[in-house]
Amino acid sequence: MLPPDSRTKVAWDILLAVTVLASSLVFPYRLLSGQDPFDGIYWLVTLVLALDVVLGFFTAFRKGTEVVDDPAAVRRHYLRTWFAADLLAALPLPVLFASVPGPSGSAVRGLLLALRLVKLLKMKEVFRSLQEALDVNPAAMRLVVFAFWFSLVVHFVSVGWLAIGGGDAEGAFGMRYLRALYWCITTIATVGYGDITPDRSAPWQLVYTMAVELFGVSVYGFIIGNIASLIANLDVRQAAFKRKMEEVREYMRSRRLPPVLQQRVRNYYLYLWETRRSVSDEGAILAELPHTLATDISLYLNRAVLEKVPLFRGAPELFLREVVRELVPVVFLPEDYIIRQGEHADCMYFVSSGEVEVLVDGRSVARLGAGSFFGEAALLEGGLRTASVRALTYCETYRLSRSDFDLLRAKYEDFDRRVREIVAERMAQIRK
Ligand code: CMP
Repeated sequence: MLPPDSRTKVAWDILLAVTVLASSLVFPYRLLSGQDPFDGIYWLVTLVLALDVVLGFFTAFRKGTEVVDDPAAVRRHYLRTWFAADLLAALPLPVLFASVPGPSGSAVRGLLLALRLVKLLKMKEVFRSLQEALDVNPAAMRLVVFAFWFSLVVHFVSVGWLAIGGGDAEGAFGMRYLRALYWCITTIATVGYGDITPDRSAPWQLVYTMAVELFGVSVYGFIIGNIASLIANLDVRQAAFKRKMEEVREYMRSRRLPPVLQQRVRNYYLYLWETRRSVSDEGAILAELPHTLATDISLYLNRAVLEKVPLFRGAPELFLREVVRELVPVVFLPEDYIIRQGEHADCMYFVSSGEVEVLVDGRSVARLGAGSFFGEAALLEGGLRTASVRALTYCETYRLSRSDFDLLRAKYEDFDRRVREIVAERMAQIRK
């Protein structure tokens, strides 16, 4: 059984989309130009469509979030859904009438050839499964889907124009088709130069032109609106970042913040953008998820940080899961005072990257880098901050609240003991 999001299935879906597009473009053209419709391309398309029927019996399908790969269930599902349409498109029925002469023969062949168009019905599903399996930008995928359908519509309208005798009959068929395409695009785009016009004495051409004009007007508005939003959304994150920056800038202007403060706020967002390519609040996304899922994600994301902190080295998995759930990421800018000596304490910090300086009465006593922690002494002693801590560079830290710190100490003796040892060392150094 072929899993629905396997590489082979993706490759097959792409091949199928290209084949269906090519066949839908080529067959009406061939039919109208009087070329032999049963050449190598016809048989190649037939082969791909026939293989698609066979594959249908061996492709697992999704039912809600579940993948069903039981052979009997897959067979039943396929027979009930796409089998009939796939088979109809794959069978080379028109060949049976290849030798019928005259206009009735070509009309029957044309109708039977047109049966292949039922395959277009399946394209919506093919695009949906490609989108899921490929993990591409949804806006880019919409652009591809739009190009697919738009090229088909333009082609059919052009061929229809030729079929009702539109344009002059001069020159090779290829040239006539090109003129029809030109007429179609100028009409759909509502440009209407008027150099190629319907024959005023041919009612069908007049009606056809009006219908295409009306269609053009509605599609034109749709295209302009959609393309603009598609392009704006191609880089969703960049667009979100720009929106956020504009919002923040507007806020700072309206509150008349001093330029220095404004620059610091800008630097903060630029730093977030450069390091994460995002300004969205990770915490808000995690808060929406079920607790267990959020913990697994935090553990995955913060594993590197936890490994850097010697205090956590060798700690049991259970302990790490608890810690990681409570850590809140906080970024500090150079020169930020993270802690001020003498204030009340309600949390401690772990440094993930960057460097901070510890100052006692304005005198530097230590520098702490990635993997270290600070702010624990006041929590432990239940008093006031024993020192100030200032960021020297951009610092990525994780904050642990007082209640969570107390809970962890109460639960894990080893953690409590190691924290106490480090605090004793630090306090001895300050008193020196
Ligand atoms: P706290 O007193 O809560 O706030 C200031 C923090 O600075 C303190 O906790 C310690 O984490 C840290 N600190 C104080 N003295 C030193 C030192 N000598 N070396 C490293 N860190 C220190």
